[in-house]
Amino acid sequence: MVLKRIELRNFRNYEKISIDFNDKINILVGDNAQGKTNILESIYVLALTKSHRLLVENNLIKKGCIFCRINGWIDQDEIIKKLEVKISQKEKMVKINNKKVKNFINYISNLNIIMF
Ligand SMILES: Nc1ncnc2c1ncn2[C@@H]1O[C@H](COP(=O)(O)OP(=O)(O)O)[C@@H](O)[C@H]1O
Ligand SMILES: [Mg+2]
Repeated sequence: MVLKRIELRNFRNYEKISIDFNDKINILVGDNAQGKTNILESIYVLALTKSHRLLVENNLIKKGCIFCRINGWIDQDEIIKKLEVKISQKEKMVKINNKKVKNFINYISNLNIIMF
């Protein structure tokens, strides 16, 4: 399983960004507070629908915005799967291949990650 690409919308300090990842190694370089950890966090949220470093999850939404969205494309045995997590003040919604998934249990096993 390889995460090929992510697109962020109103996620923390990012209004709109897309990143195409290398299949092997990716290195994030930047000054302090530029948003390196936010990128890692967005992948964590894409996988598990919640952050690794938060009690108040609304902070995931960029200041002044009303929602945030994370899209990710996963290559699994050469089949591309699109994942989406959208968070607003009111609700959290997840989609696989543009189709809403009601039960989060069926969503969470799609992208396996390790964070350390
Ligand atoms: N909800 C938010 N809206 C706007 N900016 C945010 C939000 N949450 C965090 N930030 C900004 O994200 C930056 C920190 O990003 P971070 O990924 O921790 O940086 P680093 O590159 O040091 O890992 C800070 O500038 C902080 O103000
Ligand atoms: Mg950091």
